[in-house]
Amino acid sequence: MELSKSLRTARVVGVVSVVVVLVLLSTNGAESRKHWVFDYFEYSAINCRAHSASLTDFGGVGDGTTSNTKAFQAAIDHLSQFASDGGSQLFVPPGRWLTGSFNLTSHFTLYLHKDAVLLASQDEHEWPVIDPLPSYGRGRDTQGGRYISLIFGTNLTDVVITGENGTIDGQGALWWAKFHKGELKYTRPYLIEIMHSDNVQISSLTLVNSPSWNVHPVYCSNVIIQGLTITAPVTSPNTDGINPDSCTNTRIEDCYIVSGDDCIAVKSGWDEYGIAYGMPTKQLVIRRLTCISPFSATIALGSEMSGGIEDVRAEDILAIDTESGVRIKTAVGRGGYVKDIYVRSMTMKTMKWAFWMTGNYGSHADNNYDPNALPAIQGINYRDMVAENVTMAGRLEGISGDPFTGICISNVTIGLAKKAKKVPWTCTDIAGISSGVVPQPCDLLSGQGPEKIVACNFPTDSLPIDTVEVQTCSYWGKYL
Ligand SMILES: *[C@@H]1O[C@H](CO)[C@@H](O)[C@H](O)[C@H]1NC(C)=O
Ligand SMILES: *[C@@H]1O[C@H](CO)[C@@H](O)[C@H](O)[C@H]1NC(C)=O
Ligand SMILES: *[C@@H]1O[C@H](CO)[C@@H](O)[C@H](O)[C@H]1NC(C)=O
Ligand SMILES: *[C@@H]1O[C@H](CO)[C@@H](O)[C@H](O)[C@H]1NC(C)=O
Ligand SMILES: *[C@@H]1O[C@H](CO)[C@@H](O)[C@H](O)[C@H]1NC(C)=O
Repeated sequence: MELSKSLRTARVVGVVSVVVVLVLLSTNGAESRKHWVFDYFEYSAINCRAHSASLTDFGGVGDGTTSNTKAFQAAIDHLSQFASDGGSQLFVPPGRWLTGSFNLTSHFTLYLHKDAVLLASQDEHEWPVIDPLPSYGRGRDTQGGRYISLIFGTNLTDVVITGENGTIDGQGALWWAKFHKGELKYTRPYLIEIMHSDNVQISSLTLVNSPSWNVHPVYCSNVIIQGLTITAPVTSPNTDGINPDSCTNTRIEDCYIVSGDDCIAVKSGWDEYGIAYGMPTKQLVIRRLTCISPFSATIALGSEMSGGIEDVRAEDILAIDTESGVRIKTAVGRGGYVKDIYVRSMTMKTMKWAFWMTGNYGSHADNNYDPNALPAIQGINYRDMVAENVTMAGRLEGISGDPFTGICISNVTIGLAKKAKKVPWTCTDIAGISSGVVPQPCDLLSGQGPEKIVACNFPTDSLPIDTVEVQTCSYWGKYL
């Protein structure tokens, strides 16, 4: 069942096996019956694995119609025994693998061949219902439980989901229709949710048509998300790309996202539930993101931010035909904070708002929120940006009696659209400075002209997640 005990023997087994294939081919001629294919592949990961198996070893059938839920779970249950013996990898060969939800294990890699497609089952029985997140108090769509995500993991350490751009297709249309018709009994599933875990890598995958959010690490630390292509119709409901939620030390790089909601939404729990849970998202790096989202933000901070959001560093961001650039969403009752946010080198093309902060977002978990729980928004730094075809440069709205402070915008040139608003900036209940910003910002961002640019802050130290080294892992994958 195991393909290999170590990288070394994997190579030997592989070479021997290739010879076996050749013998089969030469005895059966060109029109031979089905034969084993041995594929050599390499990838970068936080850890390589000593043991490897293929989904087909556990009865997997990649015909697009047979359910593989049991095969996935049997494979992972079997491979979990190697957690303390070098870890394991499950190889998903080319094919269309219909499946309901399955759970991951520790010291484990799920690897998708480039022609592997995981097709999310549309049978609700394939989706167990789990409790709401403690920091949310309820599901996002409905009170009470939520359908577990397609790929789920909790209380894990050292887990990798990767491939050669293999595809995970959420087949979300059915869920979106049920959502619109109010027919959902529970909150829609996400594609990938990893909870309470440490050392997580999600990379080199194509995610399409999620029923709701795509990637949701929550209560995690040391998370690397790299090279994801995420697409959904821009009108699909809540198909957020990547939502780091109450996580510490996260790196999101080289992602391309087209979605019906925020491309990245940074979160940390909702109103009184998030305040009580008290787990912030901090030390988050976002680099080389391309976003297309005509009705939402490139990077949203909130609206669920009741556990706090701090030390976010975003750079080299491209937004095209997107509603807003970086957006802060909060409300009275949220509590928490958004502080020490740094964004630089951002290009925006065809935007409604380059900058948007919303203090009256509303959207409460229930009516028991504390009206005295005011969010603290401070230390928001934006610099070195160019935007074109923008309807309105900035709409910055703090909360009366709770202004958003320490806002800094420098070296930003915003080209307005032909049909732009007459007043490019509106600002209420905010305080800050600006320097070298065109068009001239509102008076609350007491500004200096372009002739003497004082750059807003961007940290020069590196975060621990930037020092994590990945290794090159190589294996032979076997399939019929
Ligand atoms: C997966 O984990 C969830 C949450 O711990 C649990 O409710 C569910 O039964 C697990 N699924 C399987 C197949 O073990
Ligand atoms: C998972 O970890 C959380 C946080 O440490 C803990 O509260 C919970 O009981 C753990 N769950 C399991 C199934 O071990
Ligand atoms: C994965 O897909 C993206 C988008 O199509 C492409 O830019 C990238 O080169 C692909 N990566 C690999 C390893 O095939
Ligand atoms: C201003 O921002 C642009 C990128 O938009 C950058 O190339 C340039 O170096 C910046 N200028 C200063 C003075 O930092
Ligand atoms: C500018 O934006 C408008 C929508 O606001 C769009 O219709 C138009 O195509 C854009 N023009 C360019 C040159 O991108």
